Amino acid sequence: MRAVRCEGSGGPEVLVWGEAPDPRPGPAELLVEVVSAGVNRADLLQRQGHYPPPPGASELLGLECAGTVVEVGADVTGWQVGDPCVALLAGGGYAERVAVPAGQVLPPPVGTDLVSAGGLVEVAATVVSNFDHARLVAGQTVLVHGGAGGVGSFALQYAKALGCRVLTTAGTADKRDYCRGLGADEAFDYAEDWSAAVREAAPDGVDVVLDVMGAKYLEPNVGVLAADGHLLVIGMQGGRRGELDLGALLSRRGSVSALALRSRPSAQKAAICARVREEVWPMLSSGDVRLAHETRIDMPEATRAHTLLESGEHHGKIVLVVPR
Ligand SMILES: NC(=O)c1ccc[n+]([C@@H]2O[C@H](COP(=O)([O-])OP(=O)(O)OC[C@H]3O[C@@H](n4cnc5c(N)ncnc54)[C@H](OP(=O)(O)O)[C@@H]3O)[C@@H](O)[C@H]2O)c1
Repeated sequence: MRAVRCEGSGGPEVLVWGEAPDPRPGPAELLVEVVSAGVNRADLLQRQGHYPPPPGASELLGLECAGTVVEVGADVTGWQVGDPCVALLAGGGYAERVAVPAGQVLPPPVGTDLVSAGGLVEVAATVVSNFDHARLVAGQTVLVHGGAGGVGSFALQYAKALGCRVLTTAGTADKRDYCRGLGADEAFDYAEDWSAAVREAAPDGVDVVLDVMGAKYLEPNVGVLAADGHLLVIGMQGGRRGELDLGALLSRRGSVSALALRSRPSAQKAAICARVREEVWPMLSSGDVRLAHETRIDMPEATRAHTLLESGEHHGKIVLVVPR
């Protein structure tokens, strides 16, 4: 088959479209012919050599895809050759075919174009598993950092659909408008004093923070938490080592989590996928959650896709489309 390979590690130019070994599905797996694959920030880190795939996972990039089932493992039930699907992957999505444990494969949401569906499940699984962890419920206030990004644009809509008040941050006026258009109640400029703006908008604090910055925002994030609030760190774009003021956390009875999706055992991923199917797919079909703004790029041009994501000029999702 053909796939995007990393010729060494480094900038987007190390990505090369060419021949790669065909994956073979195990007895509990499906072989999927890929139609499209979502581009995630983690892919940039893997390309740079900073985020190796977990043991046993494909060396190829790509944490999610949409496509068609072309082979069904001997122990798998409920799937037929020819079924359309989306899949949550530990790697291997930037390719014509990928083998994936059947529990991590879902039918696409009703009414969603299959190419667009290739950029859905990684963000949905990340956000649902984190908000479940924080036991987010209707009526609570949520702060989503980076609301115009792939994860953020889903997270803020999902929190709104659950009945929460949503505050968010973004880097440009256009992106803040985009966030408001997706339903954010307030969107703040992260280059300014966003924590003061959040405290003014939510004087009792926010119940849940979904954070992509890590160390740089640890102190201000804890500072805006409400009593019993929960800080969910999912990214470390602002560094991995920070100083935690336990007194500030203790006085709020707060908690801090840092959850990675990719390294979870397959059984946990299957449970999260089941939650996504049950919770998110109906919201997409009803229009309560809309697809993020999407840029489609042919998979052989993965270099261009990474350059665009790295530039920070993009909002929403980038989806790689396999040429046929
Ligand atoms: N833990 C997990 O399992 C997991 C799973 C998926 C993703 N992630 C992480 O989640 C993050 C987002 O991933 P993605 O694929 O959605 O990437 P993305 O589309 O590139 O989004 C990155 C976001 O970071 C925002 N940002 C940059 N600097 C910021 C700052 N100083 N303050 C607040 N926000 C800032 C950007 O906002 P602007 O566009 O407005 O500049 C953008 O919304 C990444 O760090 C990724 O590694 C973690």
